[in-house]
Amino acid sequence: MKRIIMTTTKNTAKSYKLNTGASIPAVGLGTWRSEPNEVKTAVQVALGRGYRHIDTAFAYGNEKEVGEGIKASGVSREDIWLTTKLDNPWHKRVGEAIDKSLENLGTSYVDLYLMHWPSSTDPDDLTKHLEDWDFVDTWREMQKLVGTGKVRNIGVSNFGIKNLERLLNDPSCKIVPAVNQIELHPGNPSPKLVAYNSSKGIHSSGYSPLGSANSPLYSNETLLAIAKDKGRTPQQVLLAWGLHKGWSVLPKSVTIPRIEANWELDGWDLTDEDVKKIDSIQERFKVCGDSWLPVKVFFGDDE
Ligand SMILES: NC(=O)c1ccc[n+]([C@@H]2O[C@H](COP(=O)([O-])OP(=O)(O)OC[C@H]3O[C@@H](n4cnc5c(N)ncnc54)[C@H](OP(=O)(O)O)[C@@H]3O)[C@@H](O)[C@H]2O)c1
Repeated sequence: MKRIIMTTTKNTAKSYKLNTGASIPAVGLGTWRSEPNEVKTAVQVALGRGYRHIDTAFAYGNEKEVGEGIKASGVSREDIWLTTKLDNPWHKRVGEAIDKSLENLGTSYVDLYLMHWPSSTDPDDLTKHLEDWDFVDTWREMQKLVGTGKVRNIGVSNFGIKNLERLLNDPSCKIVPAVNQIELHPGNPSPKLVAYNSSKGIHSSGYSPLGSANSPLYSNETLLAIAKDKGRTPQQVLLAWGLHKGWSVLPKSVTIPRIEANWELDGWDLTDEDVKKIDSIQERFKVCGDSWLPVKVFFGDDE
Protein backbone atom coordinates (compact mmCIF):
# COMPACT_ATOMS: atom_id res chain seq x y z
CA MET A 1 0.00 0.00 0.00
CA LYS A 2 1.26 3.47 -0.86
CA ARG A 3 1.49 5.56 2.30
CA ILE A 4 2.45 9.15 1.55
CA ILE A 5 3.02 10.91 4.84
CA MET A 6 4.14 14.51 4.60
CA THR A 7 6.60 15.88 7.16
CA THR A 8 8.38 19.20 7.60
CA THR A 9 11.76 17.59 6.88
CA LYS A 10 14.04 19.84 4.81
CA ASN A 11 16.80 17.47 3.81
CA THR A 12 18.00 19.69 0.96
CA ALA A 13 18.74 22.52 3.39
CA LYS A 14 20.80 20.26 5.64
CA SER A 15 24.54 20.82 6.09
CA TYR A 16 27.27 19.40 8.31
CA LYS A 17 29.72 21.44 10.34
CA LEU A 18 33.33 20.45 9.59
CA ASN A 19 36.28 20.57 12.00
CA THR A 20 37.31 23.82 10.30
CA GLY A 21 34.01 25.53 11.18
CA ALA A 22 32.83 25.44 7.55
CA SER A 23 29.44 23.93 6.68
CA ILE A 24 29.24 21.41 3.84
CA PRO A 25 25.83 21.05 2.17
CA ALA A 26 24.54 17.51 2.77
CA VAL A 27 23.52 16.75 -0.82
CA GLY A 28 25.94 17.29 -3.68
CA LEU A 29 25.88 16.49 -7.40
CA GLY A 30 28.46 13.84 -8.35
CA THR A 31 30.22 14.07 -11.71
CA TRP A 32 32.33 10.90 -12.12
CA ARG A 33 31.75 9.51 -15.64
CA SER A 34 29.73 12.65 -16.51
CA GLU A 35 31.08 13.31 -19.97
CA PRO A 36 32.37 16.80 -20.76
CA ASN A 37 29.59 17.31 -23.33
CA GLU A 38 26.85 16.54 -20.79
CA VAL A 39 28.17 17.75 -17.45
CA LYS A 40 27.81 21.48 -18.14
CA THR A 41 24.04 21.13 -18.50
CA ALA A 42 23.84 18.73 -15.54
CA VAL A 43 25.59 21.23 -13.26
CA GLN A 44 23.58 24.16 -14.59
CA VAL A 45 20.27 22.32 -14.10
CA ALA A 46 21.24 21.07 -10.64
CA LEU A 47 22.19 24.53 -9.43
CA GLY A 48 19.04 25.98 -10.97
CA ARG A 49 16.99 23.39 -9.10
CA GLY A 50 18.63 24.22 -5.77
CA TYR A 51 21.72 22.01 -5.38
CA ARG A 52 24.57 23.99 -3.80
CA HIS A 53 27.31 21.36 -3.74
CA ILE A 54 29.21 19.99 -6.74
CA ASP A 55 31.76 17.17 -6.53
CA THR A 56 34.35 16.81 -9.27
CA ALA A 57 37.99 15.72 -9.65
CA PHE A 58 40.92 16.41 -11.93
CA ALA A 59 40.84 12.72 -12.87
CA TYR A 60 37.27 13.00 -14.20
CA GLY A 61 38.53 15.15 -17.08
CA ASN A 62 35.52 17.45 -16.82
CA GLU A 63 36.55 20.29 -14.50
CA LYS A 64 36.38 22.83 -17.33
CA GLU A 65 32.78 21.96 -18.19
CA VAL A 66 31.81 21.81 -14.52
CA GLY A 67 33.13 25.38 -14.24
CA GLU A 68 31.14 26.37 -17.31
CA GLY A 69 27.99 24.89 -15.79
CA ILE A 70 28.54 26.90 -12.62
CA LYS A 71 28.94 30.11 -14.63
CA ALA A 72 25.91 29.35 -16.84
CA SER A 73 23.73 28.74 -13.75
CA GLY A 74 24.02 32.36 -12.67
CA VAL A 75 24.34 31.18 -9.04
CA SER A 76 26.95 33.16 -7.19
CA ARG A 77 30.20 31.27 -6.68
CA GLU A 78 30.16 32.10 -2.96
CA ASP A 79 26.85 30.25 -2.62
CA ILE A 80 28.24 27.01 -4.05
CA TRP A 81 30.32 24.33 -2.32
CA LEU A 82 32.82 23.08 -4.88
CA THR A 83 35.02 20.05 -4.26
CA THR A 84 37.80 18.80 -6.51
CA LYS A 85 40.55 16.24 -5.98
CA LEU A 86 44.28 15.86 -6.41
CA ASP A 87 45.03 13.13 -8.93
CA ASN A 88 47.45 10.31 -8.04
CA PRO A 89 50.22 11.18 -10.55
CA TRP A 90 50.32 14.75 -9.17
CA HIS A 91 51.22 13.98 -5.57
CA LYS A 92 54.70 15.49 -5.90
CA ARG A 93 53.29 18.59 -7.64
CA VAL A 94 50.49 19.73 -5.35
CA GLY A 95 51.02 23.46 -6.01
CA GLU A 96 50.94 22.96 -9.76
CA ALA A 97 47.95 20.60 -9.55
CA ILE A 98 45.69 22.97 -7.63
CA ASP A 99 46.56 25.81 -10.03
CA LYS A 100 45.60 23.59 -12.96
CA SER A 101 42.30 22.59 -11.35
CA LEU A 102 41.45 26.21 -10.54
CA GLU A 103 42.25 27.24 -14.09
CA ASN A 104 40.08 24.41 -15.46
CA LEU A 105 37.21 25.31 -13.14
CA GLY A 106 37.50 29.03 -13.86
CA THR A 107 37.48 29.91 -10.18
CA SER A 108 39.97 31.34 -7.71
CA TYR A 109 39.30 28.78 -4.95
CA VAL A 110 37.71 25.47 -4.11
CA ASP A 111 35.78 24.83 -0.93
CA LEU A 112 37.32 21.41 -0.52
CA TYR A 113 40.48 19.89 -1.97
CA LEU A 114 40.76 16.15 -1.44
CA MET A 115 43.63 13.76 -1.92
CA HIS A 116 41.74 11.44 -4.29
CA TRP A 117 43.56 8.24 -3.25
CA PRO A 118 46.36 7.44 -0.79
CA SER A 119 48.44 6.38 -3.77
CA SER A 120 51.37 8.40 -5.13
CA THR A 121 51.71 7.24 -8.70
CA ASP A 122 54.78 7.79 -10.88
CA PRO A 123 53.60 10.21 -13.60
CA ASP A 124 56.06 8.61 -16.04
CA ASP A 125 54.79 5.11 -15.41
CA LEU A 126 51.26 4.83 -14.07
CA THR A 127 51.86 1.21 -13.05
CA LYS A 128 54.46 2.30 -10.48
CA HIS A 129 54.23 3.79 -7.03
CA LEU A 130 56.78 6.54 -6.40
CA GLU A 131 59.65 5.09 -4.40
CA ASP A 132 60.56 8.24 -2.47
CA TRP A 133 57.09 9.63 -1.78
CA ASP A 134 53.78 8.64 -0.27
CA PHE A 135 50.54 10.14 1.02
CA VAL A 136 52.14 11.52 4.20
CA ASP A 137 54.44 13.62 2.00
CA THR A 138 51.47 14.62 -0.12
CA TRP A 139 49.48 15.75 2.93
CA ARG A 140 52.46 17.80 4.13
CA GLU A 141 52.29 19.65 0.79
CA MET A 142 48.49 19.96 0.83
CA GLN A 143 48.64 21.60 4.25
CA LYS A 144 50.71 24.39 2.67
CA LEU A 145 47.71 25.31 0.50
CA VAL A 146 45.67 26.35 3.52
CA GLY A 147 46.09 30.08 3.87
CA THR A 148 46.86 30.66 0.18
CA GLY A 149 43.19 31.41 -0.50
CA LYS A 150 43.12 28.63 -3.11
CA VAL A 151 41.49 26.02 -0.88
CA ARG A 152 39.13 26.60 2.02
CA ASN A 153 39.29 23.09 3.44
CA ILE A 154 41.47 20.06 2.80
CA GLY A 155 40.62 16.42 3.17
CA VAL A 156 41.23 12.91 1.95
CA SER A 157 39.36 10.23 0.08
CA ASN A 158 39.52 6.44 0.07
CA PHE A 159 41.44 6.31 3.34
CA GLY A 160 40.85 3.27 5.52
CA ILE A 161 41.67 3.22 9.23
CA LYS A 162 45.25 1.97 8.75
CA ASN A 163 46.26 4.82 6.44
CA LEU A 164 44.40 7.40 8.50
CA GLU A 165 46.20 6.25 11.64
CA ARG A 166 49.53 6.55 9.88
CA LEU A 167 48.69 10.01 8.61
CA LEU A 168 47.32 11.35 11.89
CA ASN A 169 50.23 9.94 13.92
CA ASP A 170 52.92 11.42 11.71
CA PRO A 171 54.57 14.49 13.27
CA SER A 172 54.19 16.37 9.98
CA CYS A 173 50.39 16.13 10.23
CA LYS A 174 49.28 19.47 11.67
CA ILE A 175 45.81 19.58 10.11
CA VAL A 176 43.29 16.80 10.67
CA PRO A 177 41.50 16.19 7.35
CA ALA A 178 38.11 17.90 7.35
CA VAL A 179 36.54 15.13 5.25
CA ASN A 180 37.16 11.52 4.28
CA GLN A 181 35.17 10.85 1.10
CA ILE A 182 34.44 7.13 0.98
CA GLU A 183 32.11 4.66 -0.68
CA LEU A 184 28.88 4.50 1.34
CA HIS A 185 25.63 2.75 0.43
CA PRO A 186 23.69 -0.14 1.99
CA GLY A 187 25.97 -2.62 0.17
CA ASN A 188 29.05 -0.98 1.73
CA PRO A 189 27.95 0.79 4.90
CA SER A 190 31.42 0.79 6.56
CA PRO A 191 30.27 1.37 10.15
CA LYS A 192 33.76 0.93 11.65
CA LEU A 193 35.37 3.40 9.30
CA VAL A 194 32.55 5.93 9.70
CA ALA A 195 32.86 5.64 13.50
CA TYR A 196 36.62 6.04 13.27
CA ASN A 197 36.24 9.18 11.11
CA SER A 198 33.78 10.63 13.65
CA SER A 199 36.07 9.83 16.57
CA LYS A 200 38.76 11.95 14.91
CA GLY A 201 36.42 14.81 13.99
CA ILE A 202 36.51 13.88 10.30
CA HIS A 203 33.26 14.18 8.33
CA SER A 204 32.35 11.15 6.21
CA SER A 205 31.13 12.06 2.73
CA GLY A 206 29.45 9.20 0.91
CA TYR A 207 30.27 8.48 -2.70
CA SER A 208 28.31 6.11 -4.97
CA PRO A 209 25.27 6.60 -2.68
CA LEU A 210 23.00 4.89 -5.23
CA GLY A 211 25.43 2.02 -5.73
CA SER A 212 26.75 3.64 -8.95
CA ALA A 213 25.85 2.63 -12.52
CA ASN A 214 23.73 -0.55 -12.83
CA SER A 215 23.30 -0.60 -9.09
CA PRO A 216 22.57 -4.04 -7.63
CA LEU A 217 20.54 -2.20 -4.97
CA TYR A 218 17.66 -1.62 -7.38
CA SER A 219 16.67 -5.26 -7.15
CA ASN A 220 16.85 -5.34 -3.36
CA GLU A 221 13.43 -6.32 -2.01
CA THR A 222 13.83 -4.48 1.30
CA LEU A 223 14.67 -1.23 -0.43
CA LEU A 224 11.95 -1.63 -3.05
CA ALA A 225 9.32 -2.35 -0.39
CA ILE A 226 10.23 0.78 1.60
CA ALA A 227 10.21 2.91 -1.56
CA LYS A 228 6.81 1.55 -2.55
CA ASP A 229 5.40 2.06 0.92
CA LYS A 230 6.57 5.67 0.99
CA GLY A 231 5.60 6.45 -2.60
CA ARG A 232 9.23 7.43 -3.28
CA THR A 233 11.87 6.19 -5.68
CA PRO A 234 14.53 3.74 -4.45
CA GLN A 235 17.11 6.46 -5.20
CA GLN A 236 15.34 8.98 -2.96
CA VAL A 237 15.17 6.40 -0.19
CA LEU A 238 18.90 5.65 -0.53
CA LEU A 239 19.75 9.35 -0.27
CA ALA A 240 17.48 9.87 2.73
CA TRP A 241 19.09 6.82 4.39
CA GLY A 242 22.57 8.33 3.92
CA LEU A 243 21.42 11.60 5.48
CA HIS A 244 19.93 9.68 8.42
CA LYS A 245 23.27 7.98 8.92
CA GLY A 246 24.94 11.39 9.20
CA TRP A 247 27.02 11.62 6.06
CA SER A 248 26.76 13.82 3.01
CA VAL A 249 25.59 12.14 -0.22
CA LEU A 250 26.85 12.79 -3.74
CA PRO A 251 24.38 11.33 -6.28
CA LYS A 252 25.58 11.60 -9.86
CA SER A 253 23.30 12.00 -12.83
CA VAL A 254 23.43 13.64 -16.23
CA THR A 255 19.73 12.95 -16.83
CA ILE A 256 17.64 16.02 -16.06
CA PRO A 257 14.53 14.31 -14.60
CA ARG A 258 16.81 12.19 -12.37
CA ILE A 259 18.79 15.22 -11.18
CA GLU A 260 15.46 16.78 -10.24
CA ALA A 261 14.00 13.65 -8.65
CA ASN A 262 17.15 13.07 -6.56
CA TRP A 263 16.61 16.53 -5.08
CA GLU A 264 13.06 15.77 -3.96
CA LEU A 265 14.01 14.95 -0.41
CA ASP A 266 11.90 17.47 1.49
CA GLY A 267 8.49 17.07 3.10
CA TRP A 268 8.83 13.33 3.80
CA ASP A 269 11.15 11.16 5.82
CA LEU A 270 12.23 7.65 6.72
CA THR A 271 11.27 6.31 10.13
CA ASP A 272 13.84 4.80 12.48
CA GLU A 273 12.31 1.46 11.58
CA ASP A 274 12.90 2.08 7.84
CA VAL A 275 16.51 3.00 8.58
CA LYS A 276 16.98 -0.20 10.62
CA LYS A 277 15.52 -2.30 7.81
CA ILE A 278 17.95 -0.77 5.31
CA ASP A 279 20.79 -1.27 7.81
CA SER A 280 19.89 -4.94 7.89
CA ILE A 281 20.56 -5.45 4.15
CA GLN A 282 23.26 -8.12 4.05
CA GLU A 283 24.47 -8.15 0.43
CA ARG A 284 27.88 -6.52 0.19
CA PHE A 285 29.50 -5.01 -2.89
CA LYS A 286 32.06 -2.34 -3.59
CA VAL A 287 32.14 -0.03 -6.62
CA CYS A 288 35.73 1.17 -6.19
CA GLY A 289 38.44 -1.29 -5.19
CA ASP A 290 42.19 -0.79 -5.27
CA SER A 291 43.25 -3.44 -7.79
CA TRP A 292 43.78 -0.79 -10.48
CA LEU A 293 46.32 1.05 -8.32
CA PRO A 294 50.05 0.28 -8.04
CA VAL A 295 49.66 0.08 -4.27
CA LYS A 296 47.12 -1.53 -1.98
CA VAL A 297 45.03 1.02 -0.06
CA PHE A 298 42.28 -1.08 1.54
CA PHE A 299 43.17 -3.68 4.16
CA GLY A 300 39.73 -4.75 5.31
CA ASP A 301 39.92 -1.59 7.45
CA ASP A 302 37.31 0.24 5.40
CA GLU A 303 34.36 -1.77 6.64
N1 LIG B 1 36.37 9.83 -4.21
C1 LIG B 1 36.23 8.85 -5.04
O1 LIG B 1 37.15 8.05 -5.29
C2 LIG B 1 34.91 8.65 -5.72
C3 LIG B 1 34.61 7.41 -6.30
C4 LIG B 1 33.35 7.26 -6.89
C5 LIG B 1 32.46 8.32 -6.91
N2 LIG B 1 32.81 9.53 -6.37
C6 LIG B 1 31.89 10.70 -6.39
O2 LIG B 1 30.59 10.28 -5.99
C7 LIG B 1 29.68 10.53 -7.05
C8 LIG B 1 28.56 9.50 -7.06
O3 LIG B 1 29.04 8.20 -7.26
P1 LIG B 1 28.79 7.38 -8.60
O4 LIG B 1 28.85 8.29 -9.76
O5 LIG B 1 29.74 6.24 -8.57
O6 LIG B 1 27.38 6.72 -8.42
P2 LIG B 1 25.90 7.05 -7.93
O7 LIG B 1 25.70 8.49 -7.74
O8 LIG B 1 25.67 6.11 -6.82
O9 LIG B 1 25.07 6.52 -9.18
C9 LIG B 1 25.17 7.13 -10.43
C10 LIG B 1 24.44 6.25 -11.46
O10 LIG B 1 23.06 6.20 -11.11
C11 LIG B 1 22.28 6.69 -12.19
N3 LIG B 1 21.19 7.45 -11.56
C12 LIG B 1 21.27 8.63 -10.91
N4 LIG B 1 20.06 9.01 -10.45
C13 LIG B 1 19.19 8.06 -10.83
C14 LIG B 1 17.79 7.90 -10.68
N5 LIG B 1 17.07 8.80 -10.01
N6 LIG B 1 17.21 6.79 -11.22
C15 LIG B 1 17.94 5.87 -11.88
N7 LIG B 1 19.28 5.96 -12.06
C16 LIG B 1 19.90 7.05 -11.54
C17 LIG B 1 23.21 7.54 -13.01
O11 LIG B 1 22.82 7.54 -14.37
P3 LIG B 1 22.73 8.85 -15.33
O12 LIG B 1 23.88 9.74 -15.00
O13 LIG B 1 22.84 8.24 -16.67
O14 LIG B 1 21.41 9.47 -15.06
C18 LIG B 1 24.53 6.81 -12.83
O15 LIG B 1 24.60 5.70 -13.72
C19 LIG B 1 30.57 10.48 -8.30
O16 LIG B 1 29.93 10.98 -9.43
C20 LIG B 1 31.75 11.27 -7.81
O17 LIG B 1 31.46 12.64 -7.80
C21 LIG B 1 34.01 9.70 -5.76
